[in-house]
Amino acid sequence: MDVPADGDRPTDLPYPDVDELEAAAARVLPEHVVGYFRGPTGAYGIPTEAERWSQLRFRPHVLRDTSRLSLATTVLGTPVASPVLVAPMAQQRAAHPEGEVATARAVRRRGVLLGVSTNTGVRFADIGAVGAPWWFQVYVMDDRAMTADLVQRAAAEGATALVLTVDTPGVDPRRPQLEPRSWPERYGMQANLPGGDTGRPIFSGTRNLSVDDIGWLHDLTGLPVVVKGVLRADDAVRCVDTGAAGVIVSTHGGRCLTQSIVSADALPEVAAAVGDRAEVYVDSGLRTPEHVAAALCLGARAVFLGRPVMWALATGGDAGVEELLGSIDTQLERVLRSLGAGSLDELGPDLVV
Ligand code: FNR
Repeated sequence: MDVPADGDRPTDLPYPDVDELEAAAARVLPEHVVGYFRGPTGAYGIPTEAERWSQLRFRPHVLRDTSRLSLATTVLGTPVASPVLVAPMAQQRAAHPEGEVATARAVRRRGVLLGVSTNTGVRFADIGAVGAPWWFQVYVMDDRAMTADLVQRAAAEGATALVLTVDTPGVDPRRPQLEPRSWPERYGMQANLPGGDTGRPIFSGTRNLSVDDIGWLHDLTGLPVVVKGVLRADDAVRCVDTGAAGVIVSTHGGRCLTQSIVSADALPEVAAAVGDRAEVYVDSGLRTPEHVAAALCLGARAVFLGRPVMWALATGGDAGVEELLGSIDTQLERVLRSLGAGSLDELGPDLVV
């Protein structure tokens, strides 16, 4: 009887279909919530981030030993089972009653890491209790004392890094918002501000930001600071020169400056400029294992997924997120083997055009 060779074995998890997940989420969530999660991406004839990732083509190696490939790596010293991580996203309780607690449970089971938004409706202690590593995403507020208090409490509850989001001096009015009357009771937000859930509008932080705030946040907490929303080499270098431990190349999922350069095009120059001085990550528009593989080749140490996780959370709770992350990891391994990669270290820009 013919015994299938290793490469013929069907993988145990299917190819992730994020479009189908989104359609399924749209069937179970209120329309205004779906609109808020989607944001203005792809509107007005602007090509989407995902389309740009899909345009990249691989130049695979063959005849390489890929039998020992492992997705395990580290981010700022934290071991993770895969370089596919979960982006900080506000309002996860609008997707699922447990919000980030459910996301964190899936993340813990997958051995990875999540970002937690300033605009979360879940208390730090409840996220910390799950036991998954998490980074706190900071919108610096005009009220610096309140911001300091918030980041220090995040650190005390177990956040291992701060993610300073810098690309949101305002919100595009075309971005659908959650109906104010439907929160905080139903969705919850900013559960960690003094006085608990205040029901303030979603905020994007102060306009009075500078590179000095990297050191300010580090000094407040002792935590490494990652700057999120960097799209240029010169800005990335300024961040690293002033103490950033990492940068996230990001367009905020196309939710802010809708006509900016996309992450796929910004990543190579940022990665080249930063080199080994800090870690470079990327998000925005990553929807398939091939997109993730291309991002790793172009210099990302890890990637963050946003909306795909939100759709999985809405449709399947923690099990849904776990399945999504599992299928991406499984198929990512296959794609990397198809590139001839025996380890993550062998990925480089020469593998992509
Ligand atoms: C976000 N994102 C985000 N980023 C951030 O720094 N603070 C935040 O509070 C939020 N909130 C938020 C809400 C929702 C509903 C979405 C979809 C996104 C942006 C997020 O961290 C990430 O940059 C993008 O989501 C990545 O793009 P994709 O994967 O969604 O295409």
